[in-house]
This record gives sequence, structure tokens and C-alpha cells, in this order.
Amino acid sequence: MWGGRFAEGPSAVMREINASIPFDKRMWRQDIAGSKAHATMLGAQGIVDQADVAKILDGLDAVAADYAEQGVPDDLTLEDIHMLTEARLAEKIGPVAGRLHTARSRNDQVATDFRLWTRDAIDAVDAALGQLQAALLVRAEEHAATVMPGFTHLQVAQPVTLGHHLMAYHSMIARDRGRFADCRARLNYNPLGSAALAGTGFPLDRHATAKALGFAGPTVNSLDSVSDRDFAIEYLTAAVQCSLHLSRLAEEFVIWASQMFGFVSLSDQWSTGSSIMPQKRNPDAAELVRGHSGRIMGCMTSLMVTMKGLPLAYSKDMQDDKPPVFEATDLLALSIAAMTGMVESATFRPDRMRAAAETGFSTATDLADWLVREAGVPFREAHHITGRAVKLAEEKGCRLDGLTIDDLTGIDDRIHAGIFDVLSVDASVASRKSFGGTAPDRVREAIAAARGQG
Ligand code: ARG
Repeated sequence: MWGGRFAEGPSAVMREINASIPFDKRMWRQDIAGSKAHATMLGAQGIVDQADVAKILDGLDAVAADYAEQGVPDDLTLEDIHMLTEARLAEKIGPVAGRLHTARSRNDQVATDFRLWTRDAIDAVDAALGQLQAALLVRAEEHAATVMPGFTHLQVAQPVTLGHHLMAYHSMIARDRGRFADCRARLNYNPLGSAALAGTGFPLDRHATAKALGFAGPTVNSLDSVSDRDFAIEYLTAAVQCSLHLSRLAEEFVIWASQMFGFVSLSDQWSTGSSIMPQKRNPDAAELVRGHSGRIMGCMTSLMVTMKGLPLAYSKDMQDDKPPVFEATDLLALSIAAMTGMVESATFRPDRMRAAAETGFSTATDLADWLVREAGVPFREAHHITGRAVKLAEEKGCRLDGLTIDDLTGIDDRIHAGIFDVLSVDASVASRKSFGGTAPDRVREAIAAARGQG
């Protein structure tokens, strides 16, 4: 493509270090779409003859058909997907192919392809996250009133419902989808027509190519257009945040599936055995989701470090932008699919959850709140009285609702038998009716609201 200036070809190592075709061939669809939009615009602007444009468009379709059928070859001599496609086009339509690159550089071409690819990736991840949310909604509805312990410090804190717990992840995923949507809106501008870095002397219509490619408009500064990858970094930060959420959910599945917790058993499809211990059912998929989040974070870091020291405009370092984005996309897609499958097929154990919720004096706060409400005791004093009740229950080896009324009035004579109404775990969760609270009715409302938002 630049033979005119060179007497010798590149060394084999030069070829290899320079080539991006082994990975950037993933963008072939976007590359063809970008080229078609560019060619059409060149024709409409009278920069290239309409008859030649028609040949170019047909030729690009033929190249695309070959790629779709046979895959894209790893032809290192042609360096990248842009040069490969142009070479294939020339094989199809001859020297007319050389007119396609008028008023275009690979610098604006790759920036365009990569934005289009990332936009498609965002649409795919959004759909997958929608499925995970749908699975969470189904299971949350089923378990809107299933009592489990809520934890702080992984110590039993207050009873909650499993439905409420699962809906917490639904909220996190909703924000993740929002982050991807924000990123999509910001990246959706068209760099094509920025040429190598300075713009071009040809009378391009950048608004037309923007429209043809579904962009909201053209980018406004040619130097910025070809030299920033903030859209990819933003996409990766959104991917990292999403993977952190998935990792926490995965971690809970790992803990819950342990013998000591026994809150969940994963289906056979989402468990693995051991090669030596015949009894084992391991939550490998959940562990790998947890592990993948670290790798996705590595991808984000990798691109940030690539970009941090680059002067304007394009430098070849930027070719290294794609592998981390592709890798993170694949890891995240697998992680979402795996979590969706685990959520859908998990068998929750309400009996084990209830038993655990009844340990640790989890309704102590309810006792204190009752004293405040029914006996007008200031909360700090109520906290102290309740602490004494917990101590007594611990000594007697019983639950709070196992204390007798005499035990309780012995601690404070403002207590009466009405207290027993609030000491069960069911009463506790039912009472947590504040907006966003764990009461089963509130959880059902939250589920309905989430369904309403689609
Ligand atoms: N394969 C290159 C990349 O991914 C395309 C841009 C090449 N531009 C250049 N000036 N060498 O970044």
C-alpha cells in the first residue's frame, strides 16, 4: 500500500509485530459498513464517479460474503483488516478499488470501525444483562417472603428476604446497564472524515456518513477523533464495574453452596466434580466469574496504560487498544451467561436460610425498636436493655423469643407480652416496610416496578 517509497520489504519480525489482522479481523463487518458509507458519500459528493462507486459497493458486498463464508484469513503481509479488505476488493473489481481510500486514512477508518464495534458490543451486553435481570426477577418473586439472614461483617445482622437480596443485584445491574448506555451515547459520534489527523481538502459530507452508520453526528475535532480511545476505556470501566457486581454475586453463590451455609445447591449443569473426591460438587463457574473480574480489570488497566503517555495524534501503540477490549467483552459475556444460568437453575434452601436467620439474635433490633415505639424508651436506652436480654438468652442457650415474659420483665418492667409479636423472623421482615425495605410486600412492589421499567 505504500510501496512507492520503499526499496525493500519488511523483515519477518517487523511484519509480525506490525500485524493486527489476527485480532482486528473481528471488526470486518464494521469495516465493510464504514467503507460502504464512505464510498456512497464520495459518490454523492461527486468526488468519485457514481459508476465506480457502484462497483465498489458490489465489490465490498462480495468481499463480505467471502468473509462470512470462509472466515477472514490471517494474512500478515496485509497487516490489518483495512488493508486486507482493500486488497480483496482490488481482486474483485480491479484498480477502481483504489478510489475507495480517497479522503480517508486508516486512522479515521480504524477509529470508526472500533466505535461501531464497541457500540455493537454494548448492545449485546445490554441484552445479556436484561436476561440476567429477568432471571433475578423470577427468582426474587418466588422468594419474596423467604426469610434468610442479612449480614454485616458476614455476621448475622437482621432477617431479610431472599427476594430482597436478589433484587439488590437487580439494582446493581440496572446501574451497570445505565453506565453502558451513557458510554454508548458519548461514543456515538462519527470520526470518519477526520482523515489522517488534520481533516481533508476533499468536500466530504461527514454528516451523511454519520447518518448512514447510525451515529448521532460527526465528531468535532479531527485530531481528537483519530487519537483518543476514551470511548473504549469508558466501555472497559463499565465492564469492570459490571464484572465486580457479578463477582460479588458469584462469591455469594460460592459461600452459600458451602456445606456450612447450605443456602443453595447449584444444578448439575453448573457444578463440577473432583477427579479424586467422589462426593464433591464444586461451584467452578461462580469461582471463574469471580476470577474473570480480575482479568477484565487487567484489560482496563492495559488500555489506560497504553494511552496515558501518547502525544496527539495517532501512534501505533494504539493498535494495542483492541485485544483488551475484545478479551474483556468475551470474558464479560461468559460471566453474564454463567451467572444467568446459575440464578435460573439454583435450588435455594429456605429451611437452611430460616434456621440461619434464627441464629445470632437477629431480631434484637426489633426488640429495641418495640421498646422505643411501645414504651417510649429512648433508643440508646432500648439498645442497652436489649443487650441485657441478648446476654440472658445467650446464658440460657435460647433464642430471644425463647425467653419467658418473666425473664424480660425482670430486665425492664415496661416490657409486656406484646413484645413476642415482634421477635419472630417473619414479624421482623414484615415490619421492614420503609420504602426500599425488605418486607415481602415491598419486595413484590419493587419487582413490579422493575418489570414496569422493562
Ligand atoms: N491497524 C491499525 C490500528 O489498529 C490501523 C491504523 C494504522 N494507521 C497507521 N497510521 N499506521 O491502529
